[in-house]
Amino acid sequence: MPSSDRRRQHNVYQREVFDNSVESFRQPIPADVQRRTEQIVAAAKLRENDRVLDVGTGIGVLIPHIQRFGVQEIIGCDLSEPMLAEARKRFPGVKFWRGDVIDISPALGPFDVIFFNAVFGNMWNQGDTLKISAAHLTRNGRIVISHPMGAAFAQELAAKDPKMIPHTLPGEKRMAELIRDLQLKVQAFRDEKHLYLCVLEQRTGDIQSS
Ligand SMILES: C[S@@+](CC[C@H](N)C(=O)[O-])C[C@H]1O[C@@H](n2cnc3c(N)ncnc32)[C@H](O)[C@@H]1O
Repeated sequence: MPSSDRRRQHNVYQREVFDNSVESFRQPIPADVQRRTEQIVAAAKLRENDRVLDVGTGIGVLIPHIQRFGVQEIIGCDLSEPMLAEARKRFPGVKFWRGDVIDISPALGPFDVIFFNAVFGNMWNQGDTLKISAAHLTRNGRIVISHPMGAAFAQELAAKDPKMIPHTLPGEKRMAELIRDLQLKVQAFRDEKHLYLCVLEQRTGDIQSS
């Protein structure tokens, strides 16, 4: 089967699971997780005029943290329509797009910051995802890959359902391999017990301008 078909099949499964998970995402988020989510968003060094893409936005958990920086242009992308329906209700001023980030139209960008919070392990192909995301970045744009419960937690989830989460969160060495042929550099990397946070920055001078 061609790899694009396998990716589509993977996404159908993702959608089926997340279409039925809205209620669990509605539950209150513990204060320590909220604090680490704030740290994640702060690491992007957002400015008011930034255009931001939140990949796998779900019900929009990251959005209020992004808005706190005065950002107006936020696009939430997700495979699941029920997740997006809830996000639309909560954040009427935000634009949402349904689909795989791999297929997002350049017309929605370019983006100053692209967030992947608690979703990078779910990608069908992490290398392709970074390649496409990098192509949607502005000069000095950043990709923030994070998990507010840490890589070990994400790994446990992956072990329970590898069909759903085919990848672990990349360690420093693996991340270096993933971005080897891209115009990205690691700007920050934290792999702590309860926090995974990697900021990748578009290298200046040798890519398209915004
Ligand atoms: C674990 S939830 C995380 C939601 C949110 N980022 C958060 O921190 O609460 C993952 C979400 O990513 C979406 N998703 C999975 N793969 C995706 C992809 N390739 N492109 C866009 N969204 C995706 C799922 O539908 C789901 O809503």
